[in-house]
Amino acid sequence: PILNVIDRSGQRRTVEGASGLSVMEVIRENGFDDLLALCGGCCSCATCHVHIAPQWLTKLPPISGDEQDLLDSASDRAPTSRLSCQIPFSDALDGLTLTIAAAD
Ligand code: FES
Repeated sequence: PILNVIDRSGQRRTVEGASGLSVMEVIRENGFDDLLALCGGCCSCATCHVHIAPQWLTKLPPISGDEQDLLDSASDRAPTSRLSCQIPFSDALDGLTLTIAAAD
């Protein structure tokens, strides 16, 4: 499946990702260093914060309490905010489009 990533400079790139990885891992594997993902995907840092294109929001798994708490403490919080490490990538998300959120 493919993923469309818009980085902090506004550059859009379409990348291929493997099902079974998290969206955060797909972004990192494709060299987007502005997504730090400092905690490595264990939902404790919020440096994998992204904004999801609105039409995709309902296709994602629900936000857990931990993810909600972290998002609420992020400076670039928006209704479209998610932590990319909490989203398993799959064929169902083929074409998912997201923007890397501003750094805290
Ligand atoms: Fe740390 Fe997602 S990588 S919360």
